[in-house]
Amino acid sequence: MANDLTGKKVAFLGAGKMGGIILQALLNNGLLSAKSTCATVAHEERAKALSAKLNVKVGTNNVKAAQGADIIVIGVKPQVVEDVIREISEHITPKQMIVSVAASVPTAMIEKNLPPNVPVIRAMPNTPCLLGVGMTAVCKGKHANAEHVALTCHMFDVVGRTVVVDEKHMDAVTALSASGPAYIYIILESLAEAGVKVGLPRDIATLLAAQTTLGAAKVVLETGDHPALLKDAVTTPAGCTIDAIMELEEGKLRVTLIKAVVKAAQRAKELAYG
Ligand SMILES: NC(=O)c1ccc[n+]([C@@H]2O[C@H](COP(=O)([O-])OP(=O)(O)OC[C@H]3O[C@@H](n4cnc5c(N)ncnc54)[C@H](OP(=O)(O)O)[C@@H]3O)[C@@H](O)[C@H]2O)c1
Repeated sequence: MANDLTGKKVAFLGAGKMGGIILQALLNNGLLSAKSTCATVAHEERAKALSAKLNVKVGTNNVKAAQGADIIVIGVKPQVVEDVIREISEHITPKQMIVSVAASVPTAMIEKNLPPNVPVIRAMPNTPCLLGVGMTAVCKGKHANAEHVALTCHMFDVVGRTVVVDEKHMDAVTALSASGPAYIYIILESLAEAGVKVGLPRDIATLLAAQTTLGAAKVVLETGDHPALLKDAVTTPAGCTIDAIMELEEGKLRVTLIKAVVKAAQRAKELAYG
C-alpha cells in the first residue's frame, strides 16, 4: 500500500460529525476524488442530505460501501464499532486497511472480529480538524506496518497536526486533545465573561480571549519553550498578572484541569464496553 491516496478507494462507515469533517477535508483538498469515495450513515434521510452536500455516494449499507475499498474509515460511536466490524468482516481482506477514529475501542477488539492479518489503525482526531488546525494521534494494531501508519498520517495531516503514539496512550490522548477543545471553549467563554465584567463589549472580549489563546498556543508550538517560562515573561514583579495568577492558584485552576483530564481518561477506558 503506497504512501499516497491517489486512486485509492475510501469508504467512511459512520460519516457523522467527525467522519464527515475528515471526509469533507480530504475531498476539499483533492486528496480523494468524489468518484472513489463513499460513505454510510444510519438514517436514509441523513444519507440523502450528506450525499447532496458532498456530492459523493452515501448510503446505509456498510457491506456494499466496504467491498472493494482500499481504506475503510470507521466513524461510528464506540459502542457500535464491534457490530459494524462484524457486519463487514467476511468481505474484508488483508489488502484493505481499517482506520478507526472511535474513542476507547482497542485495535485488538477490531482485529478479533476480522479475518487474520487485516491491518488496523486507530486515529484520534479532534473537532478543530474542521478548519485544518486539528490534532490527531495515530497508533497501529498488530498487523499494520509503517506504510499503513504513514498513509494514515498523510490523511490526517490534511486536517492539522499528526503524532504517532503507542496504543497504550490512546485513552490519554482522547482525554487531552480529543476532549480538549471543550475545555478550551469553557476557558474562552469564561475569559470573555471576565472581559464583559471589566467593561468590554462582548464581541471585543471574545476576540481578545480567542486571539490570545491562539497566540499563546502558537508561541508554545513554535518556540518549544516551556509554558512556565513563557508565563514568567508575562509576569512583571508586583505587576497585575501576578495578582491574577494568585487568584487562579487559589481557585485551583491547575489541579482542576489535571483532574478533568484524568477523569476523561478513565471514562475513555470504558466507552467501548457500553
Ligand atoms: N466528536 C468528536 O469530537 C470526536 C473526536 C474524536 C473521535 N471521535 C469519535 O468519532 C466517532 C463518532 O463521533 P461523532 O461525534 O462524529 O458522532 P456522530 O456525529 O453521532 O456520528 C456517528 C455516525 O455514525 C452513523 N451510524 C450509526 N450507526 C451506524 C451504522 N450501524 N452504520 C453506519 N453508520 C452508522 C450515524 O448515522 P446518522 O447520522 O444517520 O445517525 C452518524 O452519522 C466516535 O467513535 C467518537 O469516539 C469523535
